[in-house]
Amino acid sequence: MSKTRIAVLFGGKSGEHEVSRVSATSVIKAIDKEKYDIITIGITKDGEWLLYEGPIEDIAPGAWEAKARKDLADDPAHFAVALLGTGGKSLKDICDFVFPVLHGPNGEDGTVQGLLKLISIPFAGSGVVGTATTMDKIVAKEIFADAGLKQAPYVALTADQIGPEIKARIDKELKYPLFIKPANMGSSVGITRIESPDQLIPALKFAAKYDFRIVAEQGIDARELETAVMGNEELLSSAVGEIVPDAVFYDYDAKYNNSQSKTLVPANITKAQADEIRESAKTAYKACGCCGFARVDFLMDKSTGDIYINEINAIPGFTSISMFPMLFMATGLTYTQIVEKIIQYGYERYNTENQR
Ligand SMILES: Nc1ncnc2c1ncn2[C@@H]1O[C@H](COP(=O)(O)OP(=O)(O)O)[C@@H](O)[C@H]1O
Ligand SMILES: [Mg+2]
Repeated sequence: MSKTRIAVLFGGKSGEHEVSRVSATSVIKAIDKEKYDIITIGITKDGEWLLYEGPIEDIAPGAWEAKARKDLADDPAHFAVALLGTGGKSLKDICDFVFPVLHGPNGEDGTVQGLLKLISIPFAGSGVVGTATTMDKIVAKEIFADAGLKQAPYVALTADQIGPEIKARIDKELKYPLFIKPANMGSSVGITRIESPDQLIPALKFAAKYDFRIVAEQGIDARELETAVMGNEELLSSAVGEIVPDAVFYDYDAKYNNSQSKTLVPANITKAQADEIRESAKTAYKACGCCGFARVDFLMDKSTGDIYINEINAIPGFTSISMFPMLFMATGLTYTQIVEKIIQYGYERYNTENQR
């Protein structure tokens, strides 16, 4: 019997392109090669899809792209990936299942998921609803509120509202420091922490460079706790971990360039706190329509111990030192078993959707 062909998508037209290449490398290494053949498809920063057949080691540092382009130029009939039936080989001809290891916009937000659903290929992780709702911080917050989950007070706005009126409202409703965030990014790109009202308008304008939709959020002096969930209807929850950033907040640098940021698994919290976090994580996951897997992030107020949900990452970091795999490894699963479960949940969702 021939093996199931899994296409791993990496890169992407997103500020998290580089992180995705590192995550994808770990996923590729973990996929059970006895059971699956792996097809690697890189998406460039311009959004071009390139079939890549070179060494896996060249994905993370970026050298893959020149090779994929050369192969494509030499043999377009083999290396072009046709998405909706124009030119090249169609995605459906070259794989049976897709594992999008893409972070941020154009990959973790319902776009790629919609395409895969449209062409009827089973894939890993949440579908259109789960990725689109969790990628947009405003939509996610409204769903969290509706599900009765506690979160930091916030004001949602659009870029055209930036001016004295919204400033007056934010200054009245929220206590500084604030976090100003574009609704639709990730990896802390476009986020600023501000201490005083005079910094508000510039921070809003900065966030507006990344998205039309913006959130102003009350800052919490908090510990950052994260938990992971897997499953479709019945859910598995993981250990709870803690991020100890070596910076004022967990910004892009602290996340990816600063080795001083520490992760603690399990977090040093009480069982009651861990249970509350795990329950809230499952509630949020279901409310947002997530499937397959996700990481759910919380802030725990250092003085009161109150727990607030921060966000869900529908395609969390998957590098060897990322929280998502570590949280499930702490429950006794191996990296390969985690990836296998995610693949099986992808098939399960696909089959259920196609029976209805
Ligand atoms: N309300 C808040 N209070 C305190 N810290 C926050 C708050 N919101 C965000 N942060 C800090 O900023 C980081 C990035 O914010 P987050 O909403 O998680 O965006 P991203 O989607 O980019 O990860 C968090 O990990 C945390 O360190
Ligand atoms: Mg985050």
